[in-house]
Amino acid sequence: MLFEFWLKSSRFAKNLMQCIMDTVVSGIRSTGKLHLGNYFGMVRNAVKMQHENNCYFFIADYHSLTTHPNPDDLHENIRQVLAEYLACGIDPELATLFIQSDVPEVCELYLLLNMNAYKGELERTASFKEKVRKHPENVNAGLLTYPVLMAADIIIHKANKVPVGKDQEQHLEITRRFARRFNQMYKVDYFPEPDAYNFGSQLLKIPGLDGSGKMGKSEGNGIYLFDDEKVIRKKVMSAVTDAGPTEMNQEPSEPVKNLFTLMEVMSDPATLSFFKEKHALCEIRYGDFKKQLAEDIVRFTVPIRERIEDILADPDYLRSVVSQGAEKARESASKTIREVREIIGYRQF
Ligand code: TRP
Repeated sequence: MLFEFWLKSSRFAKNLMQCIMDTVVSGIRSTGKLHLGNYFGMVRNAVKMQHENNCYFFIADYHSLTTHPNPDDLHENIRQVLAEYLACGIDPELATLFIQSDVPEVCELYLLLNMNAYKGELERTASFKEKVRKHPENVNAGLLTYPVLMAADIIIHKANKVPVGKDQEQHLEITRRFARRFNQMYKVDYFPEPDAYNFGSQLLKIPGLDGSGKMGKSEGNGIYLFDDEKVIRKKVMSAVTDAGPTEMNQEPSEPVKNLFTLMEVMSDPATLSFFKEKHALCEIRYGDFKKQLAEDIVRFTVPIRERIEDILADPDYLRSVVSQGAEKARESASKTIREVREIIGYRQF
């Protein structure tokens, strides 16, 4: 009891714990609201991770500049994402939650890493090639060096673990290469090579409402945590189904299977087996099925939406979260920059 109190309160103990725990860095895109797929994917895992790791979670607002956001929207987007993560349970007392652009030290490391990042390797990055293909009118240097900034984000806190989805694996591989290259170049063992932190089986794949594939941002496919009840009911009621089963114990079609998967996550097991049985008996009425699913989703999302709204209505709280996060992140980042400058050969006069 006493030990626990000491552990929680003393600065020494905190530092000690930070030495023992793994350091995790994860960047959050500042564009787009969270949907159920994000929640049951990354967000819920981030919330779990903050207990056992020294976590740095940040909103990647420098990265968002590659697509030239409207100045009137930039701040609002950051505020929304911040409120949503807080509402989902990221605890600023456990994790360091900050805004990337509040920690300008990362720009210095980005510049330094750019000196050892080669045009050829950056051009070969899959995400860059895709951007070139999709937006040939905006192939800016920020896009080309996106992985360098991401590497700087990660190694500036000397992270050992980075939770990544499939789409970010190559970026993490590049990060590892840059860390290794720096160490070799200066004959030091300074930056750890961060590993991908894969939740594997713990990652729930949430299907979308349009009949195929996973929940994403495309129109009519996703349910957002911030959607209100009416919108959710409407989206679920217009989800794709089929003409209904025609044979007993027939395997549900892809769109219907997807709705069952959603129900598995959102509803209680008895409800799920009730509708599965109705389907097997060819007695299912998709209208009732969807109505039930919609209610169960609403029951889950409404408290989260209310928390998001409460947080958005409390600028003092947001300000204190952001400034506390920036302070903690800058402490760690500026230590790294001091040491990196020393390694590179900058000396004081
Ligand atoms: N590139 C990531 C994405 O698109 C966001 C990101 C930026 C990030 N910096 C990072 C993720 C550092 C992990 C670690 O989702």
